[in-house]
Amino acid sequence: MTPTWETIRYEKNGPVGIISLNRPRSLNVYNLKMRDELFQVLGAIREDKEPGCLILRGEGDKAFCAGADLSEFLTAPSPIIARQARWGRDVWGLFLSLEIPVIAALHGYVLGSGIEMALCCDIRIASDDAVFGLPEASLGIIPAAGATQTLPRAINKAKALEMLLAGVRLKAEDAYQLKLVNRVVPRQTLLQTATELAERICTRAPLAVKAMKQAVVRGMDMGLEAGMELESRLGFPLRFTRDAEEGVRAFMEKRQPGFQGC
Ligand code: COA
Repeated sequence: MTPTWETIRYEKNGPVGIISLNRPRSLNVYNLKMRDELFQVLGAIREDKEPGCLILRGEGDKAFCAGADLSEFLTAPSPIIARQARWGRDVWGLFLSLEIPVIAALHGYVLGSGIEMALCCDIRIASDDAVFGLPEASLGIIPAAGATQTLPRAINKAKALEMLLAGVRLKAEDAYQLKLVNRVVPRQTLLQTATELAERICTRAPLAVKAMKQAVVRGMDMGLEAGMELESRLGFPLRFTRDAEEGVRAFMEKRQPGFQGC
């Protein structure tokens, strides 16, 4: 898979896939081209057996992503139509449907669809210069990539409403206190931290990692009883995999396991 992208880059670093938003001169803002390219690359990643974990990051010094490309809004008959066009391909659904874990590495401005993209990821790591915000209400629109749903699920409802209604921005440390991000690290070590975590995940049994992610993500929207049933349904078949045998055998033999994803 080596197409030339205009707005993103995709590379594989061993078992870790890395998508970089690549419009640094306009703060990696999300336009139709980026939507199409993300749609293509995420579709390809979903079919690819190789990556065990994915990192999403932004190129340039100033921003992970400063939201939707407002210059496209001005060329559309209305911002609502511009938003609808952006929905033509469900990038957000694709993000959420990936079986492998996705880690967002966030720096600088993380605004609008930037924060929404981050909220579609499973783990968020921020650098100390990250700033989070949702400017939509100041533009006469509301978020269209899930922030009204994903943000209150990630942080508390009142704080989410403060950000959504009043456009209050969070600095990295506040985002950490509110559990919007898992960790805050110095800017120079952001990618390294994300990569180390991704590589650590990739040393675990791939089928167990995927089942675990599914159990947590789907289970969160269920009652406890249904969630426990889901866990049993997902977990039971894993006991009969080669990797489960290998994991236990490796423990008994005091060596590292060699998992094969079967
Ligand atoms: N859409 C289109 N272009 C954008 C943009 C957006 N959302 N955000 C930034 N840019 C462009 C700027 O127009 C500028 O382009 P230019 O160099 O050709 O003039 C370039 O990115 C750099 O941005 P600039 O505003 O000069 O940087 P800054 O450091 O002074 O300010 C922000 C950074 C993020 C505070 C400011 O750019 C901003 O408020 N952007 C809009 C955020 C927003 O409302 N997003 C939409 C959510 S739906």
